[in-house]
Amino acid sequence: MAPPTHFTLNTGAKIPVVGLGTWQSKPGEVRNAVAFALKDGYRHIDAALVYGNEHEVGQGIKDSGVPRGEIFLTSKVWNTHQPNVKEALQKSLDALDVDYLDLYLVHWPVRLVPNGTSELFPVNPDGTRAVDRSWDQSETWRQMEEIYKSGKVKAIGVANFSIPYLEELRKKWTIVPAVNQVELHPFLPQHELREYCKELGILLEAYSPLGSTGAPLMTGPDIQQIAKKNGVSGVTILISYHVNKGVVVLPKSVTEKRISANKEVIEIPKEDLAVLDSLAANGKAKRLNTPLWGFDLGFADWYGPVKSQ
Ligand SMILES: NC(=O)c1ccc[n+]([C@@H]2O[C@H](COP(=O)([O-])OP(=O)(O)OC[C@H]3O[C@@H](n4cnc5c(N)ncnc54)[C@H](OP(=O)(O)O)[C@@H]3O)[C@@H](O)[C@H]2O)c1
Repeated sequence: MAPPTHFTLNTGAKIPVVGLGTWQSKPGEVRNAVAFALKDGYRHIDAALVYGNEHEVGQGIKDSGVPRGEIFLTSKVWNTHQPNVKEALQKSLDALDVDYLDLYLVHWPVRLVPNGTSELFPVNPDGTRAVDRSWDQSETWRQMEEIYKSGKVKAIGVANFSIPYLEELRKKWTIVPAVNQVELHPFLPQHELREYCKELGILLEAYSPLGSTGAPLMTGPDIQQIAKKNGVSGVTILISYHVNKGVVVLPKSVTEKRISANKEVIEIPKEDLAVLDSLAANGKAKRLNTPLWGFDLGFADWYGPVKSQ
């Protein structure tokens, strides 16, 4: 059976299983990457205000000639903007030059307090991030629910929410997040989070599926062995892994050949999926994205110990 091309959100909307990531895609490169991807068949773009390139992403969408209605477009409210989600959304809509988003996410379950040191990454005098530990994420989510009701975003969700953070949010939410976007790959499979989200009808999205900058995960012996066995590249295994697990995957590239290659999704045989699923438990667990505010809040509390995921 051919792998699915779309999954369905808890809103009933369809979401393409592979989306183009845009983090670290430089202005000057990202416009072409987005235009090329859309002309090449992508219909899903993952953006964020903090990536600092939404204006160019919007230009790429226009250049592609693909109608807005055919594109699934995501953006995210940045940590410093949590007290005013509506204003943050408008900044992204203006930069992208669109009237609505298909999905809007809370980028991190943390509020950073602007203090004049930096608009997006404020720091305390001792150099730590200016985190407001007293901020209630339910307040951010209340505002997300409001903007969902306004119709400017067709779905709302979260990113980087571990189970304890979802448990907390759940006490007050009236709308269940459609999506939780987290770091996910065979070396960080997050099995417990996957089960938890599935039960609540929250679709997972996999970020850094290739291991982020430089795509370091594709060359490892475990991935290479399964790739050879299936006659495909390591990248195809890393991308297909998620789709086979019912997870949306967001590979980033600004290189045309790679953007094309990253669309390829195969059905991975059950026994190979089982191997991929067990790599982390067999001593190969690794997390690549460790923001400073994660450490600031206590890493174990933040995500739960990596080994158990
Ligand atoms: N919510 C969050 O907090 C969060 C955090 C991280 C990422 N994300 C989202 O997830 C997306 C993907 O994650 P990511 O950007 O961290 O990393 P990634 O997609 O795992 O890896 C990107 C790197 O892999 C390279 N690459 C891409 N395709 C390749 C291929 N076929 N062969 C060889 N190398 C290849 C890219 O190089 P070139 O571009 O030079 O081709 C780039 O260096 C982001 O762009 C962003 O949209 C979200």
